Amino acid sequence: MATIRLGDIAPDFTAQSSEGEINFHSWLGNSWGVLFSHPADYTPVCTTELGTVAKYKAEFDKRNVKVVALSVDGLESHKGWIKDINETQHTTVNFPIIADEDRHVSALYDMIHPNSNDKLTVRSVFVIGADKKVKLIITYPASTGRNFDELLRVIDSLQLTAFHKVATPANWKNGEDCVIVPAVTNEQIAENFPKGYTEIKPYLRMTPQPNL
Ligand code: BEZ
Repeated sequence: MATIRLGDIAPDFTAQSSEGEINFHSWLGNSWGVLFSHPADYTPVCTTELGTVAKYKAEFDKRNVKVVALSVDGLESHKGWIKDINETQHTTVNFPIIADEDRHVSALYDMIHPNSNDKLTVRSVFVIGADKKVKLIITYPASTGRNFDELLRVIDSLQLTAFHKVATPANWKNGEDCVIVPAVTNEQIAENFPKGYTEIKPYLRMTPQPNL
């Protein structure tokens, strides 16, 4: 098992899911992707997480992001649990859940942390760009449900960097000013940032969010 680092090509795999067999890279196509693991089916925090992701589907679609979940439980377990998620979270699970019973995907992505629990995946999140490169890795313990607003916020930031040559400052929220990346020279600013910019320091140049 190799460590995955930011900028690496996301390992490809073929796996069974609640929506049929998935070949990861082909399934992603030209989209961005979120691959996230959860410890086990029929557990309380995971139930709320998957229900939340189902409700956020339109937000992921808007950003051209496909979402896929994973646990080491099997397909029959996933199918029964999905009914519970739909019932208790008042939603319809609308994304695939990988059944990684032989743990080959978990191993590829280093999602089992033996000193935490040697049998279950932790709450890993991988954001993958349209270039198939890993853009973000976050790991939470089993006891903490993830903040999917934060995940969307980071995806917005990543896509601003990919498409508009800006970075985002501390606590940035959609709509707020962005930072012009250092690779852009002052001479290049006029053509790239028609909304103008403010130079606070030569290395700290702010511009209105370009895609609004
Ligand atoms: C949960 O999803 O609720 C959970 C799973 C494993 C350990 C603790 C909580």
